[in-house]
Amino acid sequence: MVMHYIPIFFLLFLTFFCKSDDQLTHAKPLTHSDTLISKGGGFALGFFSPASSNTSLYLGIWYHSIPGPRTIVWVANRDNPITVPSSPMLAITNSSDLVLSDSQGSTPWAVKNTIIGTGVTAVLLDTRNLVLQHPNGKILWQSFDHPTDTVLANMKFLVSCKAKVGMRLVAWKGPDDPSSGDFSCSADPSSPDLQFVTWNKTEPYCRLTEWSGKPVSGGSYLTNTSSILTQTAVNSGDEFCFTYTVSDNSTFMHMTLDYTGKLKYLSWNSHASSWAIFGEHPSPSAPCELYASCGPFSYCDFTQITPACQCLDGFEPVDSINFSKGCQRKQALKCSKQSQFVPLYEMKIPDKFLHIRNRSLDECVAECSRNCSCTAYAYSDLSSTGAMADPSRCLVWSGELIDAGKSTYGANMYLRVADSSVNKKSSSVQIVLPIIAFLLLLTCIALVGMYKYRGKWRKKENKKKLMLGYFSTSKELEGKNTEFPSVSFQDILSATNLFADSNLVGRGGFGKVYKGTFGGGYEVAVKRLSQNSRQGIVEFKNEVVLIAKLQHKNLVRLLGCCIHEDEKLLIYEYLPNKSLDAYLFDGARKHVLDWFTRFKIIKGIARGLLYLHQDSRLTIIHRDLKASNILLDTEMTPKISDFGMARIFGANQNQANTNRVVGTYGYMSPEYAMRGAFSVKSDTYSFGVLLLEIVSGLKISSPQLINNFSSLITYAWTLWEDEKATELVDSSIVAIHFMKFCGAFMWDSCVFKIIPMIGH
Ligand SMILES: *[C@@H]1O[C@H](CO)[C@@H](O)[C@H](O)[C@H]1NC(C)=O
Ligand SMILES: *[C@@H]1O[C@H](CO)[C@@H](O)[C@H](O)[C@H]1NC(C)=O
Ligand SMILES: *[C@@H]1O[C@H](CO)[C@@H](O)[C@H](O)[C@H]1NC(C)=O
Ligand SMILES: *[C@@H]1O[C@H](CO)[C@@H](O)[C@H](O)[C@H]1NC(C)=O
Ligand SMILES: *[C@@H]1O[C@H](CO)[C@@H](O)[C@H](O)[C@H]1NC(C)=O
Ligand SMILES: *[C@@H]1O[C@H](CO)[C@@H](O)[C@H](O)[C@H]1NC(C)=O
Ligand SMILES: *[C@@H]1O[C@H](CO)[C@@H](O)[C@H](O)[C@H]1NC(C)=O
Ligand SMILES: *[C@@H]1O[C@H](CO)[C@@H](O)[C@H](O)[C@H]1NC(C)=O
Repeated sequence: MVMHYIPIFFLLFLTFFCKSDDQLTHAKPLTHSDTLISKGGGFALGFFSPASSNTSLYLGIWYHSIPGPRTIVWVANRDNPITVPSSPMLAITNSSDLVLSDSQGSTPWAVKNTIIGTGVTAVLLDTRNLVLQHPNGKILWQSFDHPTDTVLANMKFLVSCKAKVGMRLVAWKGPDDPSSGDFSCSADPSSPDLQFVTWNKTEPYCRLTEWSGKPVSGGSYLTNTSSILTQTAVNSGDEFCFTYTVSDNSTFMHMTLDYTGKLKYLSWNSHASSWAIFGEHPSPSAPCELYASCGPFSYCDFTQITPACQCLDGFEPVDSINFSKGCQRKQALKCSKQSQFVPLYEMKIPDKFLHIRNRSLDECVAECSRNCSCTAYAYSDLSSTGAMADPSRCLVWSGELIDAGKSTYGANMYLRVADSSVNKKSSSVQIVLPIIAFLLLLTCIALVGMYKYRGKWRKKENKKKLMLGYFSTSKELEGKNTEFPSVSFQDILSATNLFADSNLVGRGGFGKVYKGTFGGGYEVAVKRLSQNSRQGIVEFKNEVVLIAKLQHKNLVRLLGCCIHEDEKLLIYEYLPNKSLDAYLFDGARKHVLDWFTRFKIIKGIARGLLYLHQDSRLTIIHRDLKASNILLDTEMTPKISDFGMARIFGANQNQANTNRVVGTYGYMSPEYAMRGAFSVKSDTYSFGVLLLEIVSGLKISSPQLINNFSSLITYAWTLWEDEKATELVDSSIVAIHFMKFCGAFMWDSCVFKIIPMIGH
């Protein structure tokens, strides 16, 4: 062992004394076998041959301190390799030029300066930047200004300059071929300060981002390591630049356009000795991110777990199987002065817009309304941001809308529709739903009443029929056979295999939940209230009556009920993804909850709660909102469940007291836990706790408390006060997801939106 250390030590010793190791001077050119090593030892400049070819030599910069195949981040002579046996040399000439030459006398690459007789040097800095500098410190040339396929931290990437395309990343031709490939990344020449695109030759391949036009925007996000990557886009009017920095300079990260046309963010995982991708465009999970893959008038819905094509409002698929044909209007557009526009929220705006400068909102709307060929417009007011030549961003589209998307952080746009298609869509549903709800309510009250007064339900021979009838109506909303079904105990027994353990899917506060399958494969969840549960007949009726009254996509749906001797059973829609806690607090599953899924869950719970509190005809306090009572459907849409403890408030009542405090400690507001006072605010408190859990992935009641804080709440509060709120964010929310929805460059802040949310 000792023997092995001696040469290494000796080398370090040499490095230490050999001051010019990171420098190239007139007197000391770089030859084939030499390398310049940056001071910190992280990077090297030298000659390399790609693995596939022994005969081509390139001058490049690579990571020196990581093992395995070299990761090249910059190449000087990518399209002019030096061919072996000719040997290369990099030198500073008498006229201060930096010249790469070969022994045959040709110069495949050079930087011309024509400054005579000075001590110009070339230095490889720890930032991976090769700098040609004058003795007075002036930088004559730097490799950062000439990126090949990689953007490095702290490098200023000039996106556009004076309304012309700035820098361009050009991918390698193949995995081992540094010459210029077909894919490149640059600003869009037709709107250089508004969007950034990956090109396949000259065709757009993936539209990476569009930009609102704010002078400065940016966002930071956590990477897989503890570092935070912060990106900033700065628009000075003339120049539009993009930079990213990494909180810990010793972390190896870069952004590169690979030879397959994918823009990737990579970070070095020293445990696995490999590069981990933490952001990728187009994302493998979103095939419809590819340019125009959804066809005209269609959009890629990034808010779904598996992004897929959808038609814009008022449109239907041309071919329901093949979305690449796009969508067509359900109703032909007749042009009129009073055109109607419907808002489309949070859109990745379509391509091929016309950017009209210097318009007010009204002028922008007029621009589109008065021209029949204008199909949509989008507007952002930038006047408050100052310093810009143009106080607005008015975009109009004519004809087809292509390559649109829907993402959580998109912009709003307005789509021209046929007059009569506005508001028509939902009106029939709006009438049918309350009628069904009302019928359900009446029926269930009648059933519960029947039980109460006769003591027992009469056996019905047509129960099965009813059930089938209900299930079909629930799908079709026909409104004919909407009797709220009581289901026979026998049927439930056979559906759940006599309550077999293999059918057990969960344990609620008041008993067990089984999966049941009725004839025809219809799956349901059967909540079997334990006989000695605190939920007596009162709570049972409460839950049945309440849920029957509620119709909301963020509330779990009750399909039927059954009372059999001491058994009380509730039949719900079956949600295969179980409850939120099963994901949030499970190390193996929590990665499914990327930030956008979490945000969707948060919004869904908020909508469900808002419905309970103020949008339904009753004011309902849930009183037991917690992660295990949030069920998730296949789309990860949250559904609030477990209404056993819910209370209905009268119209003018806004607070009540109870001497029977029920709920779950940790989620209960202090005034409820201590004094039994509850109101909508108690649910809001529980919602806040749930929010902290969702963001942090930590349990409120977790026994192993976080960093010696007494609770998640004090922990979150302390971080917030110390302005370190990002540390609260669950480390499994990996950046790839931010990337997926924000666009590679995230001109408009992503994480900035999380942080204020934690505080309020
Ligand atoms: C490169 O050279 C080695 C021997 O030096 C040889 O084994 C190998 O086949 C060569 N590879 C190519 C692609 O020429
Ligand atoms: C560079 O300058 C030195 C003296 O300063 C001279 O000897 C040498 O010939 C010059 N080289 C060229 C290529 O001009
Ligand atoms: C790039 O464009 C060429 C046609 O120019 C096409 O053959 C190729 O499949 C495209 N590449 C990808 C990855 O789409
Ligand atoms: C990282 O390096 C850049 C460039 O050298 C420097 O400006 C920045 O302060 C460094 N950041 C940290 C956290 O060391
Ligand atoms: C993050 O790190 C974990 C282990 O530390 C690894 O299993 C996982 O693949 C990494 N993910 C990414 C995207 O780097
Ligand atoms: C879908 O339609 C496009 C354009 O009409 C066509 O090129 C493609 O082959 C079709 N794909 C399938 C699977 O039918
Ligand atoms: C913008 O328009 C207003 C009037 O509509 C005009 O006074 C102003 O000079 C214009 N600004 C620019 C930069 O064109
Ligand atoms: C209407 O829009 C089309 C397409 O953008 C354009 O060519 C035409 O000049 C516009 N007409 C008017 C009156 O603005």
